[in-house]
Amino acid sequence: MCQSPLHPFLLNLPKCEHHIHLEGALTPELVFSLAKKNNVTLPDLPHYKSSTSLTARYEQFDNLDDFLNIHYANMSVLITGNDFYELAWSYILAAHADGVHHAEVFFDPQSHTSRGIPVESVTRGYKRALDRAESELGVTFHLIMCFLRHLPVASAETTFDSANELIRDGLIHGVGLDSSEVGFPPELFTGVFQKAREVGLRRTAHGGEEGDVSYIKGALDSLHAERIDHGIRLVEDEELLRQVAIKGILLTICPLSNVYLHTAKSIASLPLRKFLDFGVQFSLNSDDPAYFGGGILNNYCAVQEAFNFSIDEWKTIAISGVRGSWISDERKRVLIGKIDDTVSSFRSLA
Ligand code: ADE
Ligand code: ZN
Repeated sequence: MCQSPLHPFLLNLPKCEHHIHLEGALTPELVFSLAKKNNVTLPDLPHYKSSTSLTARYEQFDNLDDFLNIHYANMSVLITGNDFYELAWSYILAAHADGVHHAEVFFDPQSHTSRGIPVESVTRGYKRALDRAESELGVTFHLIMCFLRHLPVASAETTFDSANELIRDGLIHGVGLDSSEVGFPPELFTGVFQKAREVGLRRTAHGGEEGDVSYIKGALDSLHAERIDHGIRLVEDEELLRQVAIKGILLTICPLSNVYLHTAKSIASLPLRKFLDFGVQFSLNSDDPAYFGGGILNNYCAVQEAFNFSIDEWKTIAISGVRGSWISDERKRVLIGKIDDTVSSFRSLA
């Protein structure tokens, strides 16, 4: 919770989340309980002594790869379809409490298929939780299947082919590109993104997190990405920044993640003011809520403490999130109506 007088408004503001890795919602407590249930031996390292020591380790990431090594090791506890269901459900309850009305969530099938877990168990386990949330909570979701860019392109191709039936059945809405960025340029994945495009999948890619602005340009030009995940290094190329603004490409920014992984010195150093001034649309997101100081609301609060945005500026951010979502015009109208109502009722109290 932040100290801002706008905290109740930020809590109630209807939110869309576009940048959350479901595996990044795996809390230390769930790591240890699933390890016990599934008889998985965790690495013989000091931070795996207890959930407390694991949590403490998360305050000391050196960089993206240091985080990813632990993130991938932790995932070894996820075995059954029900484990994936339970993980997604825990994220959903937290996101719902934070005011999320629509979320487009990432998952990393290769982290599981490489351990012999079928892509169907992973995807159907997650989808069962999302369907339950839609019917019981009225929150809407899409699943975005990410390719791990540190693995060979052939592995992404195999993953795409193996998900053929899940795509055909409508379980997967889009594709993304994540994992280590520097040294793995988006252009490598042009072919598999083209295939995804041909079957009607939406496209997004991490870019400009640790990598420079060329990774953003490459994702837009070669992958036909419709959104950029992170994208904070867009400020390095003002011409591209103007194009991104004109085209209405959404940046899915993750403020706390950027600080935890040292891709930004502080929240205040993020170029959010510049993006607002130039009309670059962005949403604020949790990335990996179990690792980086909590969920979407904590990110809103951290931004508010650093930037002291006005109600109108928050309204702009919330509406950008709706516009950049891959949902029907009717669903957009409903969500914008809810944002308008929240803004009006908060103004009438102020
Ligand atoms: N996978 C999970 N979190 C990630 C991040 N911040 N960047 C790239 N890949 C990720
Ligand atoms: Zn991410």
